Amino acid sequence: MAALYIHSLLKLAFLCSFWPIGTPLSLNYPAVFNFGDSNSDTGGIVAGKAFPLARFNGQTYFHEFSGRFCDGRLIIDFLMEAMELPYMNPYLESIGSPSFQTGCNFATGGATIQPADAASTNPFSFNLQLSQFFRFKNRVLTLLSKDKELETYLPEEDYFTKALYMFDIGQNDLDGALYSLTSEKQVLDFVLKLLYDLNYGMKRLYNAGARNFWVHNTGPLGCLPRIIATFGENPSNLDEHGCIVSHNRAATIFNQKLRDICLQFLAQSPEANITYVDIYSIKLNLISNHSLYGFQQPLAACCGYGGPPLNFDTRMPCGVTKDLNGTIATANPCNNTAEYINWDGTHYTEAANRFVADQILTGNYSDSPRLGTSPFFN
Ligand SMILES: *[C@@H]1O[C@H](CO)[C@@H](O)[C@H](O)[C@H]1NC(C)=O
Ligand SMILES: *[C@@H]1O[C@H](CO)[C@@H](O)[C@H](O)[C@H]1NC(C)=O
Ligand SMILES: *[C@@H]1O[C@H](CO)[C@@H](O)[C@H](O)[C@H]1NC(C)=O
Ligand SMILES: *[C@@H]1O[C@H](CO)[C@@H](O)[C@H](O)[C@H]1NC(C)=O
Ligand SMILES: *[C@@H]1O[C@H](CO)[C@@H](O)[C@H](O)[C@H]1NC(C)=O
Repeated sequence: MAALYIHSLLKLAFLCSFWPIGTPLSLNYPAVFNFGDSNSDTGGIVAGKAFPLARFNGQTYFHEFSGRFCDGRLIIDFLMEAMELPYMNPYLESIGSPSFQTGCNFATGGATIQPADAASTNPFSFNLQLSQFFRFKNRVLTLLSKDKELETYLPEEDYFTKALYMFDIGQNDLDGALYSLTSEKQVLDFVLKLLYDLNYGMKRLYNAGARNFWVHNTGPLGCLPRIIATFGENPSNLDEHGCIVSHNRAATIFNQKLRDICLQFLAQSPEANITYVDIYSIKLNLISNHSLYGFQQPLAACCGYGGPPLNFDTRMPCGVTKDLNGTIATANPCNNTAEYINWDGTHYTEAANRFVADQILTGNYSDSPRLGTSPFFN
């Protein structure tokens, strides 16, 4: 019912947008394979590392702990609903009755494009997520050749070509690097290195038969309460939205180069489709015009500690209880999460994720150059 509604909204969106009629934002895929970080992690790092995520995560929508860094659904959950597919099962989740028939999620909270090393908090960086995918595919093909009935739980062989391959990664690379990189030149060199690796990974997938690619650019990193709390003491670091200038500038550089890389990938991959989605603009619009969209708190964390303006304290992440100078304090969630854009200082609330997904589905913030004209690629 909900999915049908979204579909008719989509049709309406095509007619109203400036896309030429007949170039639909195609959402007809039998399966999805996703690579990324906490923005699209549906339980991977919690399963894979037994990551102790606060029990409040999931409370708004799932009414139980969900393994997501959110009070409810992520952008990818809303997109799966629009595709009329079930929510994605993490590759690393072995408990329960996981079905991988309509895809597999390799994203894990904290993941980077840069290869993890012994010091990394998350070992499942992009290169390892790709290795996991290739192992997954080989295992599926081997198992299906032995027992066709396993198609109830596993993707059919041709799904690997027909599937949508989604990417939302890079935020943690920037986040970490901006503690030491300062000049624009340093940021640019770093970004180019990251995107070389991303492009290489996409090519490996293409060479293995992947054809449909969907890339989210990175959001306004400088608008996260955690970043503002860390870098915002000097007001000259803040822009007109109250966000950290240097972090948003780095995100913008990343996105400009990401868009170039997508075009380059397309030129080199004659049978590929790619959709580039401008998450940055959607999120910045949401933050700067929050009251227009029904939000009261553009920059404060719902689940945090310290009160206004940010309700964020690095010592007290969401769910933590500590003795602060003789007072036992807990970082509890707010009671009105739908009024907040930010959930825990780093991640968005379900209400904000719903807004972002709705905007994506209008088609107004995405380009699929091979499928028609495009608002950004020109
Ligand atoms: C898409 O953007 C155009 C131009 O800004 C706007 O007029 C239109 O309402 C948008 N469509 C949707 C569905 O939001
Ligand atoms: C792109 O996707 C569309 C819709 O799924 C498909 O019809 C078309 O063949 C694809 N184009 C290429 C170049 O693969
Ligand atoms: C906020 O909304 C106004 C009016 O719709 C628009 O012109 C502006 O670009 C929006 N701000 C951002 C950052 O998108
Ligand atoms: C405890 O109080 C002292 C003095 O006011 C302050 O410097 C310190 O940061 C406080 N510690 C904590 C954990 O709040
Ligand atoms: C939420 O509401 C309860 C009950 O009204 C109240 O005790 C609690 O302090 C509120 N929590 C926050 C974070 O405002």
